[in-house]
Amino acid sequence: MLTLDDLLPIRLLHTAMRVEYGRLAAAARAPRGAAHAAVIEEHIDLTLHVLHHHHTGEDTHFWPVLRERAPECAAAVDRLEAQHSLIEPLLAAASDRKVALAERADALAELHTLINAHLDEEEATLFPLLLEHYTKAELEAIDETMRQTFGRKMVPQILCWMLSALDPEVRASSLATLPLIPRTLLTRVWEPSYRRRFVRIYGPDVQYGALPQPTQTKPGMSLAA
Ligand SMILES: [Fe+2]
Ligand SMILES: [Fe+2]
Repeated sequence: MLTLDDLLPIRLLHTAMRVEYGRLAAAARAPRGAAHAAVIEEHIDLTLHVLHHHHTGEDTHFWPVLRERAPECAAAVDRLEAQHSLIEPLLAAASDRKVALAERADALAELHTLINAHLDEEEATLFPLLLEHYTKAELEAIDETMRQTFGRKMVPQILCWMLSALDPEVRASSLATLPLIPRTLLTRVWEPSYRRRFVRIYGPDVQYGALPQPTQTKPGMSLAA
């Protein structure tokens, strides 16, 4: 019997997505100059690229399969797929460098609102269906396919992005699941670089990592490839 622990990669990516576009909207609204705007643009590109491919992965690996395996849930699946179609134009609008960065802040803010609503529904609807209708091996194969989609250079950045949204307890339990070498690389090499970029984008006052969430389920994180 699968449990929510078997959905950790998608749950942790969702957590990162829930916070990033709102604070990116605030940063984009008033860049401090060309260098600040440039690093915001880089981060928009990274996080929207990941969101686009996350949705493409769900469109490919989940909706057609669930329509076959759980036809009684087709209406719910249709709704989630339609939400992806609604969100997709915002990705193009938010990342269109022909438009001044500050003028794209509203698109990022709208994305923040829509993605949170979508993730609320997706986690309530899709997650139970995945647990019921997929095997552990299938879910692991999908995760591996997604990792290959992103490639070796981008995966460390995505892992750091995920860490940046975790509260201290979840962060600690998650890192503890990693073998020594990747854990050392992540915390000593990749994350310090990511944290410097985080401060360049958001300044010293924006919280890195989430505040402790005492009532929330505390997932460990399996970052192992
Ligand atoms: Fe998702
Ligand atoms: Fe989705």
